[in-house]
Amino acid sequence: MACNAARWRYAGHMAILVTGVAGFIGSACASALLRRGDAVVGLDSYDELLYNRALKEQNLSWVRRHGDVECLEMDVCDAEGLTSLFKRHAISGVVHLAALAGVRSSIQVPHRYYDTNITGTARLLAAATAAGVQRFAIASSSSVYGGNKKVPFAETDVVAEPISPYAASKAGMELVVRSHASMYATNAALLRFFTVYGPRQRPDMAIHKFMRRIAAGEPIEMFGDGSSARDYTFIDDIVAGVLAAFDRVEGCRTYNLGGDHVVTLRELIECIEAVVGRPAQVLRREMQPGDMLVTMAELQRSRAELDYCPQTQLVTGLERMWEWMRDEAQETRYKQAG
Ligand SMILES: NC(=O)c1ccc[n+]([C@@H]2O[C@H](COP(=O)([O-])OP(=O)(O)OC[C@H]3O[C@@H](n4cnc5c(N)ncnc54)[C@H](O)[C@@H]3O)[C@@H](O)[C@H]2O)c1
Repeated sequence: MACNAARWRYAGHMAILVTGVAGFIGSACASALLRRGDAVVGLDSYDELLYNRALKEQNLSWVRRHGDVECLEMDVCDAEGLTSLFKRHAISGVVHLAALAGVRSSIQVPHRYYDTNITGTARLLAAATAAGVQRFAIASSSSVYGGNKKVPFAETDVVAEPISPYAASKAGMELVVRSHASMYATNAALLRFFTVYGPRQRPDMAIHKFMRRIAAGEPIEMFGDGSSARDYTFIDDIVAGVLAAFDRVEGCRTYNLGGDHVVTLRELIECIEAVVGRPAQVLRREMQPGDMLVTMAELQRSRAELDYCPQTQLVTGLERMWEWMRDEAQETRYKQAG
């Protein structure tokens, strides 16, 4: 077994580098690290392919409510910038969440996904290792399971059938991390997140769009017949899994982080209708290329080695997200963001 029962301890004066700190999951992880007393240095390029900079700055303001954090505006592909970052800051480990996410945009600009997600990760690992940093928690995705016919998806399944450029970029990234870890004996947790939702969720993701449109009385698009299914994971559960993996990983180890319950798209829409208190006008659309029919995480390994235990039921998580969204100011800003 790769994990120690004893939690890894970092030197008190050193900081944890969180990449993608202005994003949905990065801002939540950085806040949690600050809350438990870690020093954090953040890195983000404020990429605007999926959503705009103003929302990312808003995420960062929320992080700063939990403690001081220096956020460096930098591309993870910038090798010189990374080298200088590791020279200027005493970094004990890296929580690497910066990436281009999302299946659909990856079909439009696949090269950008390969650059950021594969080359960017390789550059980050090289700069960190040169500076003596040995500990990483790195975001991968359930998308790597691609055409996998067997559910639930287990970390031991062969993942050789990505069905979108995004999935290929994450699968390629995993191989880069594995080869790096075998050469430099780094401790790296590869974390396969299963559809994450909650406050500050990316506005291009289904739950965010559905809530906003249903509340505004606008139609929503349902791709396929509504029977496609996802293992939805609340942000607090993901954050707990990321921190546990960061603290405990030894060697290079892959972990599924899922929500432990799977619902169909139709059931999800019904839950959102109930939480928002309005019926949805549903426009049926063809299933999109790159979309998986089902995702379902096998959590045995994460439970055994990380004590990972997702706590949040879908309805509770949706209510918490809706509470966040209802804030008038947030709504206005998201409308402006289109
Ligand atoms: N949200 C999910 O459901 C989900 C599911 C599986 C995996 N993931 C992975 O989790 C991580 C975080 O996802 P998220 O939903 O918070 O997305 P996000 O877009 O909100 O956050 C990613 C952040 O990375 C930054 N970024 C993009 N390209 C960069 C670059 N070249 N250099 C530096 N920063 C860059 C973006 O500006 C953004 O702030 C990503 O690796 C994503 O692939 C997310």
